[in-house]
Amino acid sequence: MTGGSVTVDVHLDAADVACALLRDAAQGLATRPRSLPPKWFYDERGSALFDDITRLEEYYPTRRELEILRRHAGEVAAACPADTLIELGSGTSAKTTLLLDALEAAGSLARVVPFDVSESTLRTAADTLARAYPGVVVHAVVGDFERHLHLLPTGGRRLVAFLGGTIGNLGPAQRGAFLGRIATGLAPGDGLVLGVDLVKEPDRLVRAYDDAAGVTAAFNRNLLAVLNRELGADFDLDAFAHVACWVPEQEWIEMRLRSLAAQRVSIPAIGMEVDFAGGEELRTEISAKFRRQRLDDELSAAGLRLARWWTDTAGDFAVALAFPA
Ligand code: SAH
Ligand code: TRP
Repeated sequence: MTGGSVTVDVHLDAADVACALLRDAAQGLATRPRSLPPKWFYDERGSALFDDITRLEEYYPTRRELEILRRHAGEVAAACPADTLIELGSGTSAKTTLLLDALEAAGSLARVVPFDVSESTLRTAADTLARAYPGVVVHAVVGDFERHLHLLPTGGRRLVAFLGGTIGNLGPAQRGAFLGRIATGLAPGDGLVLGVDLVKEPDRLVRAYDDAAGVTAAFNRNLLAVLNRELGADFDLDAFAHVACWVPEQEWIEMRLRSLAAQRVSIPAIGMEVDFAGGEELRTEISAKFRRQRLDDELSAAGLRLARWWTDTAGDFAVALAFPA
């Protein structure tokens, strides 16, 4: 059986992506401590590695969020019977189907809008959705959720989903700006369903980002492979160790790549020679963990009202439903 219609808007063309990567690399590697934004993890190999991460024993968030959505997606759909589901950072859209099934059962579903920076993953996910929901319009959008939210399709009643704890990958200031733009974009009756990982024992948190099989380490180092391919850099992937640590003051996990020795890396595309001291760390990601009160405060500050809050039975992860205040 063939599926319904699929359209794909591309707001990130190759030239735009190349330019943004040049800028991020030049800025992030010149600043101390050095850092790179996490969106560059997700080339084809990075997206495949992330998909492997979601199945790791140590990586509990995906299973916990699925448990919550299985139990409560019907309540989400009842509270916000949208005709359009927009999913930001949708990846493989594996969890989206639970929300789609609930909206379909509520009788309101007409359109799904998966949105991601990773074009290949997005196209595959869009085709899969079109086959699974033949009566639903699939309108995929390739873009950066920090830059292109204003280009999302409008019209109808919209539910925006941002799952997987990806909001925690934004720093506090970026998060405030992001939530503010979401709030501005939502009309009365539209909703935001947000998956957030919760503060818990540091041991379990660290293991979720430093698994025994080394999949997360490979995912982290893949960022260097992206710089090698896209910028002609000569990073030696084996010369950097994967580091995950809990930062209690900020209540976030930090992922880093630690230079195992003093080394010089050349990055021709930005005309840089970058010297790493032995033990010097490059920050590649933060993953903030939440408490209900903090999320409530951040949503309020952005002009959103926390309406519902569900956790899994173990209290590891939460799904929140918010509306424009
Ligand atoms: N929602 C999925 C995937 C989470 S991984 C899940 O819960 O399992 C984060 C996803 O966000 C990846 O698919 C990645 O490609 C995407 N992503 C990361 N930064 C992004 C950005 N700035 N704009 C759009 N998508 C982004
Ligand atoms: N949104 C995911 C999270 O913070 C992304 C993620 C999971 C991730 N594991 C990772 C990013 C390892 C980088 C490295 O949980």
